[in-house]
Amino acid sequence: MDTSVAIIGSGPSGLMLGQLLHRAGIDAVVIDNKSPEHIMSRIRAGVLETVTVELLDEAGVGDRLHAKGLVHEGINLAFGGKLHRIDFEGLTGRHVVVYGQTEVTRDLMDARTASGGASVYEAEDVRIEGFDADRPTVRYRKDGTEHRLRCDFIAGCDGFHGVCRQSLPVQAYQTVERVYPFGWIGLLSDTPPVADELIYVNHERGFALCSMRSNTRSRYYLQCTLAERVEEWTDERFWTELKLRLDPQIAQRLVTGSSIEKSIAPLRSFVVEPMRFGRLFLAGDAAHIVPPTGAKGLNLAASDIRYLSRALIRFYRTGDSDGLGGYSERCLRRVWLAERFSWWMTSILHRFPDAGEFGARIQRAELEYLVRSRAAATALAESYVGLPIED
Ligand code: FAD
Ligand code: PHB
Repeated sequence: MDTSVAIIGSGPSGLMLGQLLHRAGIDAVVIDNKSPEHIMSRIRAGVLETVTVELLDEAGVGDRLHAKGLVHEGINLAFGGKLHRIDFEGLTGRHVVVYGQTEVTRDLMDARTASGGASVYEAEDVRIEGFDADRPTVRYRKDGTEHRLRCDFIAGCDGFHGVCRQSLPVQAYQTVERVYPFGWIGLLSDTPPVADELIYVNHERGFALCSMRSNTRSRYYLQCTLAERVEEWTDERFWTELKLRLDPQIAQRLVTGSSIEKSIAPLRSFVVEPMRFGRLFLAGDAAHIVPPTGAKGLNLAASDIRYLSRALIRFYRTGDSDGLGGYSERCLRRVWLAERFSWWMTSILHRFPDAGEFGARIQRAELEYLVRSRAAATALAESYVGLPIED
């Protein structure tokens, strides 16, 4: 079995690339070491930038998103006992769409099945070879049989713990990283959201976020320590703690219920440079991680795929490899802007164990400035709705 592009990973990055290549008539195989059911059970991002929505339209999977996604024209910041709205539409003329990553993945998987694209799930011991030479190869085992897939290019869309980045010689790349001294515990429930728009809470007990997936399904997060385990967070403890971090009039409106899912995620900033190694291209979480505070992870994955799909399509149509040559540099310019924004949002909203009184005062001043200055609020809004993408 040979193909043009071997795509390692069937998360949003890999599936989007597969669909865009398919529509351009380029053959690809998607290989994942997990089952589709496992992939669909991962509850992750919820906010899409316009650039991401446009790419999903281009991939031919925008119908459900347009029918079911919720257009959000702003967010709320809660601090000092008050709610402050940041009006994206008024400040930038743009908005975001609330639509879960699980739904994006489902739409893309359905489209791949309908188009007959080759996918291998539960592939064991996936290995990549020869990407620094002319004919890269992917090897894996499936149902006890060894397989070899030769290809022109490998797209490393296999997330932070994937095999592609780990297959590089250490001298070939550099990593830049910051690990934060806390995590988020998230809870998903079939309860109506507490407000029409997201609420990001800065509270002395720690950060909280009120988000949603639909008008009947809510997603809430709480800052927690890295030592905590999800089993220690009963639903009751979660709801009680969330209420303590919300203003009383909002806490009063909160509808609680049993959780459908609960998980803890550590917060990390991480970038690999470069993102291209010969015929291997890293994309999405395989190349960079942002803390979720700015809702940028999935959106950055989409912008990488926009660059990579265009570069590959140009190569196969005209033989011109300039797009492939410039891939890493173009991605990294946008990656670092999102890294900056996500780090900054994290730094103004969370309790840092060793920030002291000075840190707390500066944080408060930053938030006051944000809600009083149109310029400062516009800076937040333009990054949140998504910075323009280079063509
Ligand atoms: P992934 O979604 O990680 O997909 C990678 C795929 O590769 C997976 O299907 C995996 O099974 C597969 N894979 C891994 N290793 C191998 C291997 N060896 N061989 C073959 N396949 C392999 N972003 C936000 O914007 N908001 C959030 O609230 C948010 N919450 C998150 C919570 C968690 C726990 C995590 C991990 C991420 C979160 N993110 C969030 C980030 C966002 O979900 C990611 O940026 C997005 O999933 C990136 O998509 P991806 O396709 O690049 O990687
Ligand atoms: C989510 O709904 O999961 C979500 C929304 C906004 C964020 C992070 C996560 O900043």
